[in-house]
Amino acid sequence: MCGIIGYVGKDKCIPKIIHGLEALEYRGYDSAGISYFFKNKIKTIKAEGKIVNLKALLNFNEESYLGIGHTRWATHGKANKTNAHPHSVGKFTIVHNGIIENYSELKEKLIKEKYVFKSETDTEVACALFDFLYKKNKNILETLSEAIKILKGSYAFGIICNDDANTLYALRNTSPLIIATDETGNFIASDVPAILKFTNKYILLEDNEIAQITADKIVVYNNNLEIVKKNIKTFSESYEAATKNGYEHFMLKEINEQDKVYKNTIDYYFDGTIESLEKNFNFLNKFERIDIVACGSAYHTGLVGKCLIEKYANIPVNVEVASEYRYKNCFYNNKTLVILVSQSGETADTLAVLRKAKNDQIKTLAIVNVVGSSIAREADYVIYIKAGCEIAVATTKAYLAQLAIFSLITTYLGYKNGVIDSKELTTIFKDINLLPNLINKTIANYETYFKIADKIYKHKQIFFIGRGIDYAISMEASLKLKEISYINSVAYQAGELKHGTISLIDKNTPVIAIATDKYLLEKTISNIKEVKARGAFVILVSNTTFKDHFYDEFITIADVHPILQSIIIIIPLQLLAYKVAKNNGCNIDKPKNLAKSVTVE
Ligand code: F6R
Repeated sequence: MCGIIGYVGKDKCIPKIIHGLEALEYRGYDSAGISYFFKNKIKTIKAEGKIVNLKALLNFNEESYLGIGHTRWATHGKANKTNAHPHSVGKFTIVHNGIIENYSELKEKLIKEKYVFKSETDTEVACALFDFLYKKNKNILETLSEAIKILKGSYAFGIICNDDANTLYALRNTSPLIIATDETGNFIASDVPAILKFTNKYILLEDNEIAQITADKIVVYNNNLEIVKKNIKTFSESYEAATKNGYEHFMLKEINEQDKVYKNTIDYYFDGTIESLEKNFNFLNKFERIDIVACGSAYHTGLVGKCLIEKYANIPVNVEVASEYRYKNCFYNNKTLVILVSQSGETADTLAVLRKAKNDQIKTLAIVNVVGSSIAREADYVIYIKAGCEIAVATTKAYLAQLAIFSLITTYLGYKNGVIDSKELTTIFKDINLLPNLINKTIANYETYFKIADKIYKHKQIFFIGRGIDYAISMEASLKLKEISYINSVAYQAGELKHGTISLIDKNTPVIAIATDKYLLEKTISNIKEVKARGAFVILVSNTTFKDHFYDEFITIADVHPILQSIIIIIPLQLLAYKVAKNNGCNIDKPKNLAKSVTVE
């Protein structure tokens, strides 16, 4: 989603702001803009489309030492130059992430006060509100404090005012915002990668806090304008970790990191003994029912989690997408644990579910990648995956690390609940140790998947089928393919096809079938034969070998304990999706219309 960067200091601000915006490109955007003080006046330059368009309009040597920049992902109003940020009204110029929910009502009131609006955005309305309040109280901090009481919705603002050419102001509610310092000055940013080239030390602004930032001073106030003491945090990864490191795309780099990501995640919670699992996960024993709630790929890990926990731990699990769950009647009680899965920890719908559950006094567990993110901070329990900075919009390594966490949770609960005996536990532990090497070998086999991708990339639709956990993985494999290649793809429960969808299968329609669940294998094979008989081009992914040739292409994968199998299955399908997208010349790391962190509803 939108990105914010601001700088005030001894260095010229334009190069720093542009670097920050480029580092935030991965979040997704459709226009960009910058405002800065030049000879005590605010200058604003905006452009539709990519940051290169904006760069072409800028003088990087401009003597300016304070400015704000923004990449906009359109919500209110079209993606054009007028709606691009920054917006200026009266004395204020601002950039904004999030959504102002009461903007229509505020706009009507401000129009009555003779404000005229040029854009269709909620941001311009917020800017007019600041100006309106400031005209009355002539004090910027009081203006911002008063605005917090009026504005409804989610927001992170970077603010400058004509009357104070030395200060950058920031404000947040729900949408993330950090403040950082290097030896030359201070920054605001919506996300750590924006400032990582300059510093890895930062302060997290909390909801309803206001920051007043000059070249050599940062003061943070609460909503009553009392000074708040803030802790400085250190982001543990290097700038290199947020770069491509020789790979053609971030997605490819991140797929290749998955053996390490798996190991880091597992090693953090498991030292080879059941006692380590007991120490980290015993809080789970209190619950008799689990609701897993998330969006997109994180929802898909929930589907895998459900299959595993229900089968091996005998606990009922309900999985729902957050945008639905937040508005429905939830039949939870004090024996229910609501698990929120989120890479970013900032997804608006998932955060809303967390707050709803907390409000209903239901215990929550967050499985999150970004340390200190809103979901991580607000949940009762947190399990961090150790995926590191994920830049490609399409998640790969974070998804795999989430699967790793569900495999550990299931192993622990399954043993505790007597479904997994000591012998089976030993097998699982052995396979957990083998997995980094197996992940590595699966990735190393990429040429096999790439050759298959070369055969199918021109098709208009590609189907995925599977049963049980294989279906859960199909959902993710299908999403990966469609989001980066723009090829229509649907995942179906293999047994459900003949109730309608099979009519779409024509000669050579690619059908990717996943068949690893031994209990369901015969059934899945029958379904594969049904599509094959109708002319489908079948690509079979399996951990078993077959005498019969009921498929056209075969991807063989290592056979590991079913609790861990999904972690291996997804890898060839990530690489297949990658190659299909590459062959089609798609923008792999930044697919159209998508954003990395979906901080609006
Ligand atoms: C797809 C993808 C998205 C995210 C979803 C939730 O590749 O990345 O579907 O999984 O937007 O995001 P998080 O996990 O940050 O809550």
